Amino acid sequence: MVTQPIHMACFFRRRIASKLSRCLGLPEDTFISALCAIPVSKKQQSPDFRLSVKALLSKGILPDNGDLEAQTKTLANQLQQDDVVEEIFAGRGVIHFRVSRIQLVQKVLEQSRKERDKFGMKSELLKGLKKGTTVVEFSSPNIAKKFHAGHLRSTIIGNFIANLKGSLGNNVIRMNYLGDWGMQFGLLAAGFQSFGCQEKLKMNPLQHLFDVYVQVNREAENDEAVEQAGREFFRQLEQHEQHAMALWRQFREITVSEYRKVYKRLGVHFDVYSGESFHQKQAQEVVLRLQTQGLLKTTEKGTGVVDLSPSGDMSNYSTLLRSDGTSLYITRDLAAAINRKEIHNFDEMIYVTDKSQGNHFQQLFQILLAMGHLWAERCQHVPFGLVQGMKTRLGEVVFLEDVLDEAQARMLRNMSQAKTTKEMDDPEDTAEKVGISALIIQDFKGPLVSDYKFDWDRILQAQGDTGVFLQYTHARLCSLIRLHGEEDTVNPSLLLDQRSVLIMQHLLRYDEVLYQSACDLQPKHLVNFLMTLSHLAASAHRHLPVKGSPQAVAQARLQLFSCVCTVLANGMRILGITPVEKM
Ligand code: ARG
Repeated sequence: MVTQPIHMACFFRRRIASKLSRCLGLPEDTFISALCAIPVSKKQQSPDFRLSVKALLSKGILPDNGDLEAQTKTLANQLQQDDVVEEIFAGRGVIHFRVSRIQLVQKVLEQSRKERDKFGMKSELLKGLKKGTTVVEFSSPNIAKKFHAGHLRSTIIGNFIANLKGSLGNNVIRMNYLGDWGMQFGLLAAGFQSFGCQEKLKMNPLQHLFDVYVQVNREAENDEAVEQAGREFFRQLEQHEQHAMALWRQFREITVSEYRKVYKRLGVHFDVYSGESFHQKQAQEVVLRLQTQGLLKTTEKGTGVVDLSPSGDMSNYSTLLRSDGTSLYITRDLAAAINRKEIHNFDEMIYVTDKSQGNHFQQLFQILLAMGHLWAERCQHVPFGLVQGMKTRLGEVVFLEDVLDEAQARMLRNMSQAKTTKEMDDPEDTAEKVGISALIIQDFKGPLVSDYKFDWDRILQAQGDTGVFLQYTHARLCSLIRLHGEEDTVNPSLLLDQRSVLIMQHLLRYDEVLYQSACDLQPKHLVNFLMTLSHLAASAHRHLPVKGSPQAVAQARLQLFSCVCTVLANGMRILGITPVEKM
């Protein structure tokens, strides 16, 4: 029988867990997830793993005798060291473990050689995560309206979540839910009929639709007849009248095909372009269902509402029908969710929008549950904060394309000062990829719900915790490997210096970091991990030369750098960044 090579962090965790298991008479698995790899510190050599005795006591796994310190010490003393776990000592309520340096180096290198772009993914920790079909709904701009910073955030965050879920073995459905229905369409179409131009629509569709929309809104403000024309057109749309639907379809198709191109530049794709328009009929069905279930009440004003208050006093309610009987945003979302469950039979669904829609999604899930859709328990809203001051040369951001153009142009200008730019095959392409990484890293550094102020100069710096620095480190490692090639097996004892060991210790945490990100869907854990890895690698690159070192040492170092390079690239890809090889 061929046994799967055990993930290196798990190899050490197992080893420690088996000691604990023997000593305490509990199954090994009890301790696997209780052990965590310790973040590296530059100031001192730290041990590798930590077990919180305090946590074991509070979870009732161990009996509490009232003296945490004594209990921790006794347990630490009972555990036997061996040639893998070389040191075991008690700290405050925790036990520390240091593993053999040689074993550490050997295991990490071995794994990186074997697993390459799957590095870390076979960890027991990650295997323990629930798997299934995940719908991630993200980006979701509105046709003819601005693509604002919030849509950009939703796009990159949703892409990250979809990448992460996918790399952990889930079947991911990436969904874009376009704002493609509503009164604004009536107005847009009415406007297009009076001053739209098919030529311009073909040449520059998003711009033209936006211009028409802005103009018709301005006119509608002062001219009741325009407003009326819009309402009339929307009525025709709701009745699915042919000519109205044809125009609507044209707007939608043209918009989707434009968006596809820009998303491609961003490295993002969608499996499904759905939208609010798809749920017209279903929305009516939802309303009927709510009525028969006795959940929908008609107010004095004639609107249809669902009472969501715990005591039935309407202190919290949601409006599902206007007094004229037309549906609202939430009505369509209810229909959309039910429809997606029917079509995709997902195990979980994730919505990514700014935090101002938090209440909307809470109500949505609550109504679904009230209707008896228990799967709504597995629907989740991932909220994010506001970005202030994202501007381009043209002023306020209107189109996604403008942001990408700006990032590319600024990066190209910065790169033109570096001599390596001339050697590049396609500097524009590199500038675009690096510029996008800068945007992404800036966005992912903190908790997603935090607001932040956008600053082009700061995000594009080559030093510090930026996406540019990450790309730069990756490109330098690539060029080193390109120059020297790499060997298959190396002598681990040549990598026992402080810098190499720090890198290995840091790599022990990779699976935990992915685990954390998978649990709370926050990219910051992975970003911080990759930043530290880049800083460690940059320092190692300065102090551990390959060129001029004895052959065996050079080979060992190359192997180390190649391992770092692989993990950097893997992590970047999960974040939605395309690693560049030259810069
Ligand atoms: N189109 C909406 C907007 O721009 C976002 C849609 C979010 N998704 C949803 N299922 N409601 O605000």
